Amino acid sequence: MTFNLLNKDIESISCQTLVVFSKAASQKDRPAKVTHSELNKTLNQAIAEKTITGKHCESVTYRELNYAGFRHVIVVGLGKENEISHESVRQTAAAAYEALKALKTKEAALHFDGITTSKSDAVPYARATAEGLMLASYIFNELKTGQKEPQEEANVHVVTKSAATLKKAYEEGLILGSCVNFSRRLGDLPGNLMTPTILAQHAVDGAKGTGLKVTIWDKARIKKERMGGLLGVAAGSDQEPRFIIMEYKGAAAAKKPVVFVGKGLTFDCGGISIKPSAGMEDMKYDMCGGANVIGTLLAIAKLKLKVNAIGLVASTENIIGPSATKPGDVHTARNGKTFEVNNTDAEGRLILADALSYASELDPATIIDAATLTGAMVVALGNTHTGYFTRNNVLKSKVEKAAVASGEWVWNMPLCDFHVKDMKGTFADLSNISAGKGAGSATAAAFLEQFVGEGIPWAHFDIAGTGWAVGNRLNYCPKKGASGAMIRTFVEIAKLQG
Ligand code: BES
Ligand code: ZN
Ligand code: ZN
Repeated sequence: MTFNLLNKDIESISCQTLVVFSKAASQKDRPAKVTHSELNKTLNQAIAEKTITGKHCESVTYRELNYAGFRHVIVVGLGKENEISHESVRQTAAAAYEALKALKTKEAALHFDGITTSKSDAVPYARATAEGLMLASYIFNELKTGQKEPQEEANVHVVTKSAATLKKAYEEGLILGSCVNFSRRLGDLPGNLMTPTILAQHAVDGAKGTGLKVTIWDKARIKKERMGGLLGVAAGSDQEPRFIIMEYKGAAAAKKPVVFVGKGLTFDCGGISIKPSAGMEDMKYDMCGGANVIGTLLAIAKLKLKVNAIGLVASTENIIGPSATKPGDVHTARNGKTFEVNNTDAEGRLILADALSYASELDPATIIDAATLTGAMVVALGNTHTGYFTRNNVLKSKVEKAAVASGEWVWNMPLCDFHVKDMKGTFADLSNISAGKGAGSATAAAFLEQFVGEGIPWAHFDIAGTGWAVGNRLNYCPKKGASGAMIRTFVEIAKLQG
């Protein structure tokens, strides 16, 4: 489907399908209101009979209604007026997309001015509508032959009388949505079709024409750069590791960059400390932190933000081979610290150690990392919130502000010296697993902290629970598939940096 913004009065156009919105009344006996000036008998009757209730994301389709120049009419619920937010609108737009898809319409006009309750809502709602439509349109069926769902060939016009004022926000929503979809596809591709080499190639290809400079380090260069953590994890695999560097310059050269770091484990079987087989196939998603950092840099560049930003992705497989790292092996990270690998399945922190050390050398204003790092994060927060760790209160308030603007849910997790103490090694500086019990996500964060330069504001986002399969609560995410978690929040963080 294509989604364009149309500067028209909805009353003045005709089209195959009209999408209007209805608000739920706050009192039980009050009927829902459809946000279109003139209603025909059928819709009024439906409201009276409560087949249209205005409940959030309810969609009611009237085929062949032939009403005011429209053949079909879809009514989508906005929910109660005081509960409408940009996030609820994102979901409402996704519900509209699903109804349009089910109707197999060729052309539709979506009555945007019916969504807004005041002028100040219009800008964020325009962005949210574009995001909701674009995000809902993501489908991953390229590996199916035969009966795959056809790609929708429809034009959706988002109709508003104030298109000139909303254009920028609307286009921003489409760009963000398409960058999130780009990262989702990288996540959904299976391990045999998404190796470190392929991931790096996608970063190069995606960056074409955006002004981003992309540099890829191969195994020989990674060795030369003394990245002992990344090499140690890669030792068991036939696939060469890659270190991906994406640079964007949107501000004066003197301005310190915000550096995003991602875990790009294209498959994690656990290594010699092998994982149980049930659900192991989901470990193709262990590169979602990396994929989402790539998507973040693409979005920052395409939105032409006035900021300097760098994306770093450490990428490898964690698999078993004759040279694989064994429990007890000791490796040296780029910053010279040594660590014992007491569990080869705690590998994400080892490759991030090198990436964070390198990030710290770039004189960054801030370092932000994303990783599907710990199963403990899924236990703590399920798939609702992304847990984040930082000891910097200024950065913490930026993260909170950014998440409010993006609509993504984050939760601040504790990180203190006790967690650091638990990560001390017996024979080396550090152990990659905790000596204590519990708080597995915090001790992992404490390990990472050992590789961040003194005084650099740093936040770590553990997306183990939110990186994929969040479609049970977000209708603009695939039921089972990569979500693109934190890309929208990271773009907001970059804006606050500029
Ligand atoms: N990639 C996993 C974490 C993970 C598990 C993400 C489930 C999403 C869902 C990570 O590499 C890992 O295996 N971590 C171990 C660490 C432990 C051995 C200290 C874990 O969480 O079990
Ligand atoms: Zn692991
Ligand atoms: Zn992992």
